Amino acid sequence: MRVTGTGHASMRIDTAAGSILCDPWVNPAYFASWFPFPDNSLLDWETLGQVDYLYVSHLHRDHFDAKHLRDFISKDATVLLPEFPTSEMEDEFRALGFTKFLKAPNEQVVELPGGLKIMIQALTSPTDGPIGDSSLWVEYDGVRLLNQNDARPTDLSVFAELGHVHAHMLQFSGAIWYPMVYELPQAAKTAFGKQKRDRQFDRTWRYIDDLKADHVFPIAGPPCFLDDALWQFNDIHGDEGNIFPDQSVFLSEYAKVGGTNGIVLLPGSVAEVTTDGATTTHPVPIEEFFANKVAHLEEMRERKRPIIEAEKASWRHPEVDVLGQMKSRIEPLLEESIYLAKGVGGPVRFDLVGYDGESVESIVVDFPGQEVRPYADEKVRYRFRTDRALIEHLLFIDEVDWVNSLFLSCRFSAARIGQYNEFVYAFFKCLSEERLQYAEGWYDEHERSTDAEDITLGDWVVQRRCPHLKADLTRFGIVEGDQLTCQLHGWRFDLPSGRCLTSVGHKVRAHRVDAETPAPAGESLT
Ligand code: FES
Repeated sequence: MRVTGTGHASMRIDTAAGSILCDPWVNPAYFASWFPFPDNSLLDWETLGQVDYLYVSHLHRDHFDAKHLRDFISKDATVLLPEFPTSEMEDEFRALGFTKFLKAPNEQVVELPGGLKIMIQALTSPTDGPIGDSSLWVEYDGVRLLNQNDARPTDLSVFAELGHVHAHMLQFSGAIWYPMVYELPQAAKTAFGKQKRDRQFDRTWRYIDDLKADHVFPIAGPPCFLDDALWQFNDIHGDEGNIFPDQSVFLSEYAKVGGTNGIVLLPGSVAEVTTDGATTTHPVPIEEFFANKVAHLEEMRERKRPIIEAEKASWRHPEVDVLGQMKSRIEPLLEESIYLAKGVGGPVRFDLVGYDGESVESIVVDFPGQEVRPYADEKVRYRFRTDRALIEHLLFIDEVDWVNSLFLSCRFSAARIGQYNEFVYAFFKCLSEERLQYAEGWYDEHERSTDAEDITLGDWVVQRRCPHLKADLTRFGIVEGDQLTCQLHGWRFDLPSGRCLTSVGHKVRAHRVDAETPAPAGESLT
């Protein structure tokens, strides 16, 4: 099996029974903030795009690049579709001219002509990707590959059960706006960033250890930031709180925990994977490439500057009545929302900075009051500050997912009272009837399901499934003193009270091994 690195989470898998192109991303994403790193725009995409199968793990724009898919990928390719709850992905592919689809039943091996086998695992909670993320397992001639991508399944047993895996591709770096955009003292920001960076690596080691593949390929990040306003997010400034470590950092951190089987793919690198080993060739030596990272980024920044400028020029729509449109689009959703609105639990304020860079219009999305209105000098749950032009653009293009556009752009700053609140972001990725209904239904089901099984961790008996997204705490749970950490997303819980220290609600059921009466099970929404 041949695997060609094509940048970020993208790769082309070639076998004698056919080729699969995964997640081809080239054009900047999220308001021209993210670019693939290393640069993959100079690859021969005309040739790479002539494939038998196309797999896109999910609709995040650094995976689903509509322009590139339209311009370069063969419309004869059969699209391997994860079993997602909505038809959005298929609809988007059809709009681009794709007509051949294979809807892969979730977690079931599908045999394709010529003996190529695939299996797709779809994750479908409202917090997975833009409502859904997925992983692709491939087997041909005894060689097995898992492209886990940036998906975070609770465990990898469904893949491990299919036999020893030879190549495991997974995310190791950051892909979020936290903590950089938060209005915090620099020291706090660095400390939170460092914590996040460590957690990302811990999670990665856990997955690697779960699967024990012959070879591990760090993929799906980091992106690079070429706009001058975002340049500081690149991990080139010696900031230990930077959440975007690159593949060479992965190799050195992996070595510290005994990892010796890591393989980095640059765009154009080719790995020949067999049941006996892997041989890899690179367009330039890996060490040499990363030693020249800053020069690579600076050269790329100059080359991409016109693209960024052109994008920026398209964001302003002064004719858009922002308050009026937010009102008409968001209020009907607030009226329908039960779980998300209750989960947010307070007003969320948007401070919109005008074209002059100074004037500010404050708008509040009032979740308890079910209305969108001007800010009224009140306490708010979250405050976001961003350019009015970005919101104008979101309204102009009728964007239903502000996470997959504004928030991932990192072109905002934020402040909040209290803990992280996942419902805020879940709501702003569900600005359509279809998405909102799905998310509400998911939380409803989640709330009703009981999970009575308990396990013992250290001196504590705790519920087996994490109150966040049901990770198996026998694998992901770590107890230190009176605190439980679930390593899947790093959420922490105070065991004596059961209180979640990371997010609102999500209480854990726990009691000391020697306690006679267990603490009462808690509510998970507050
Ligand atoms: S499942 Fe997310 S922190 Fe446990």
